[in-house]
Amino acid sequence: MHLAFDLIGELEQALAKAAAAAGLEPGSFEPGVRTSDPRHGDFQANGVLAAAKRAGKPPRPMAEAVVAHLQGDLREGFEVSVAGPGFINFSARPAMLLAWLKAFRSRDDLAAGASAAHKGETWVVDYSSPNAAKQMHVGHLRSAVIGEAVSRLLAFTGARVVRDNHLGDWGTQYGKLIWAYKRMIDEGALERDPIAEFERLYKAGNTAAEADPAVMDEARAELVKLQGGDPENLALWERINRASLSAFQGIYDRLGIRFDETLGESFYNDKVGRVYAELSEAGISSQSDGAQVVFHPEHPRFKTQPMIVRKSDGAANYATTDLATILYRTEHFRADCILYVVDKRQGDHFEQLFLTARKWYAKTGRSVPRLVHVDFGTVLGENGKPLKTRTGDNIRLRDLLDEATERAYLLVTQKSPDFPEEERRRISEIVGVGSVQYADLTQNRASDYLFSWEKMISLEGNTAAYLLYALARIRSIFRRQGLECGDPAAEAGAGVPETPAEVAIARKLVKFADTLRLSTETLCPHFLCLYLYELAGEFSTFYNADKVIVEDPAVRARRLMLCARTLLILETGLGLLGLRTLERM
Ligand code: ARG
Repeated sequence: MHLAFDLIGELEQALAKAAAAAGLEPGSFEPGVRTSDPRHGDFQANGVLAAAKRAGKPPRPMAEAVVAHLQGDLREGFEVSVAGPGFINFSARPAMLLAWLKAFRSRDDLAAGASAAHKGETWVVDYSSPNAAKQMHVGHLRSAVIGEAVSRLLAFTGARVVRDNHLGDWGTQYGKLIWAYKRMIDEGALERDPIAEFERLYKAGNTAAEADPAVMDEARAELVKLQGGDPENLALWERINRASLSAFQGIYDRLGIRFDETLGESFYNDKVGRVYAELSEAGISSQSDGAQVVFHPEHPRFKTQPMIVRKSDGAANYATTDLATILYRTEHFRADCILYVVDKRQGDHFEQLFLTARKWYAKTGRSVPRLVHVDFGTVLGENGKPLKTRTGDNIRLRDLLDEATERAYLLVTQKSPDFPEEERRRISEIVGVGSVQYADLTQNRASDYLFSWEKMISLEGNTAAYLLYALARIRSIFRRQGLECGDPAAEAGAGVPETPAEVAIARKLVKFADTLRLSTETLCPHFLCLYLYELAGEFSTFYNADKVIVEDPAVRARRLMLCARTLLILETGLGLLGLRTLERM
């Protein structure tokens, strides 16, 4: 039996062919196959309903005609039936489940199957992108964690991914910062905690400038010098950015993030001239009070609130830099798609940016990349307000990860007091950081979410600890038998799943492909989280119902195969979310 990784894609193709053979108007039929409620089978196609409506014909006979023309291996692999007004239900037969499980037995097999989805495409993912000289706080968590998961998902499904940290390393804050740096730098403090020192300096500069207009002028002069390329100020600026980046790197390492590029805002300083010129040549921008602006007359708000692309003093701003960045990403990286993993509160900025870029590209005859604001909501404290410390300050990301690790240590120690201290510490870092990542990813990214240590670091519910534990438990099954996980010898001669629990877990496993597709199409990792959670639950049911290590070699082989595949998919899935996994826990 020839088997595709993505059974839904395969079913859709077969249905389209069958529809043509059944005489449906070409192009009038979208198969619309989805994973279905397990009580009705594995997959369901509802496309006939819309096609029949359009054609003004009764749907049920049409569905029956399509089914009658279904051909190929899938015909054998599935039990097919027509239900209700004209739904087509597909239930995988055990032989097909077995064939899929045998075809996809390693991470490479899965990757090869999945990579058809985005092969040949280049996606630039703009994420994390914090501002230099400031601590990363809890508000920076989501972009980093979601951006990393989305990048991994896209790479796994075949895209060439350029991970770009669009650092905020240029802006008016440097005037006050450099002013203060020159007068009050504490080298010792800089050594110990550079960002804390920069924050202190910035605050001091700001207070002084607010109290004294002469200081304000001096700070402005420092900024003008920096922008004019003054060597001393440039050197300080570089020092500030370098120290900031190396502090950020500490966080990225813990979260498993590695960027391909860190092209901050300053990288585009010499690239904004083209933006001004092209926008005005194309007739997209106009002058308003000395500034260069872009109105969007078709938009309810942007017809009166223009996007300012060049300030009246001639300076570039956030929007200008973002336009120059699009140019660079399409020309240099040849991006087909650019994702911006940024707080939803910047929605207006991106809407305006995309409108402008699309008009600009259309006018200049370039092909417009797909531009997507992968937006996300706010992390809220128990009081429903943005999460802060008790004193109302932002929570530093580093402190948050430290606390997670401490809390995980208590959990691990309670669960496995006999593990050596050093191992418990190592496990805690993986469980703690993983819990923070997972709690973030498991929420629909568009909504705000309530941050709760109790829910997050727990062995119960849809949590990292639950999944990491489920995975470690499967590893121990193999370890106790002296087997490598996925050892081909262990599953040699495995036959079709037979018991209800075996069939149920096999049916869940083959739906991994669909989950990947759903998560990448929507750029929503929570679909993958939910799937992994359900898979782990299904595994527990199977493990409680059916003894794995039994005398009968055929039964044992097929149950070990189900264990091995569950482990493989849990491990691959958690890896795609950015989590590290454990041997034991
Ligand atoms: N530095 C910005 C901030 O902290 C985020 C940048 C997002 N990326 C972009 N291309 N605008 O708000």
